[in-house]
Amino acid sequence: MIIDQVKKNYIPRHVAVIMDGNGRWAELHGNDRIYGHRQGVESVRSVVEGAGELGIEFLTLYAFSTENWCRPKEEVDALMSLLVDAIVREVANLNEKNVKMNVIGNIDSFPHEVQLKLKEAIYSTSSNTGLNLILALSYSGRWDILQATRQIIRKALAGEITEEQLDEPFFIDHLSTSVVPDPELLIRTSGEYRISNFLLWQSAYSEFYFTSIFWPDFRKENLFEAIVDFQGRERRFGKTSEQIRS
Ligand code: IPE
Ligand code: IPE
Ligand code: MG
Repeated sequence: MIIDQVKKNYIPRHVAVIMDGNGRWAELHGNDRIYGHRQGVESVRSVVEGAGELGIEFLTLYAFSTENWCRPKEEVDALMSLLVDAIVREVANLNEKNVKMNVIGNIDSFPHEVQLKLKEAIYSTSSNTGLNLILALSYSGRWDILQATRQIIRKALAGEITEEQLDEPFFIDHLSTSVVPDPELLIRTSGEYRISNFLLWQSAYSEFYFTSIFWPDFRKENLFEAIVDFQGRERRFGKTSEQIRS
């Protein structure tokens, strides 16, 4: 079994996933795009379970980007109601699995009901101590960098900080992922090779794993495959191979 090939002493702390290909999967099955999004929820369940089994600390799922607001209104509306339904339905399961849910992104841009359900789910799972599941919703890397910059400008204008205080750790403290380590592994499904405005700052040194599998077909075994692949790589962080091995 693929899980037996995973080295248990070298599990990435943070895995991020661009869940792509729901629409094409649905088309392939002669159905509308929403059907694909609905099936995608099954994949989320499986991957959350798999991440928990491996003891991954943080799993960030890119579920809705800033740019996705530009999709046809019917699709956006359907995604919103799917989101509410899935969250309401899954909270008990998350609690049972000791999963703590959180959200990054411009939550204020969501319909009131969606915001409310998200807050309820975050609150209801807040004392869980297992996997941290982070949903990136109305998220984009540029949005994140801008909102951090705005916070810092406000502090500077209020005279709370000086220019010299602005270094990387200080900046990171203002990102929406401030308490989360950078993802060691970033997975994208559906055969697309791009970042699509996901964790731009945070993925500076992530290992990328691309698979042609459409998201609705992705299961925890595919996550394990990605981790096995990751574990076979040498991460050099600008150094030479020789330096890393010594
Ligand atoms: C990913 O699947 C889900 C969201 C972006 C919300 P897509 O809806 O992008 O599916 P494709 O890429 O069109 O197949
Ligand atoms: C990226 O997928 C966003 C999410 C998975 C939520 P898209 O399907 O929106 O990305 P592009 O537009 O093909 O780059
Ligand atoms: Mg897509």
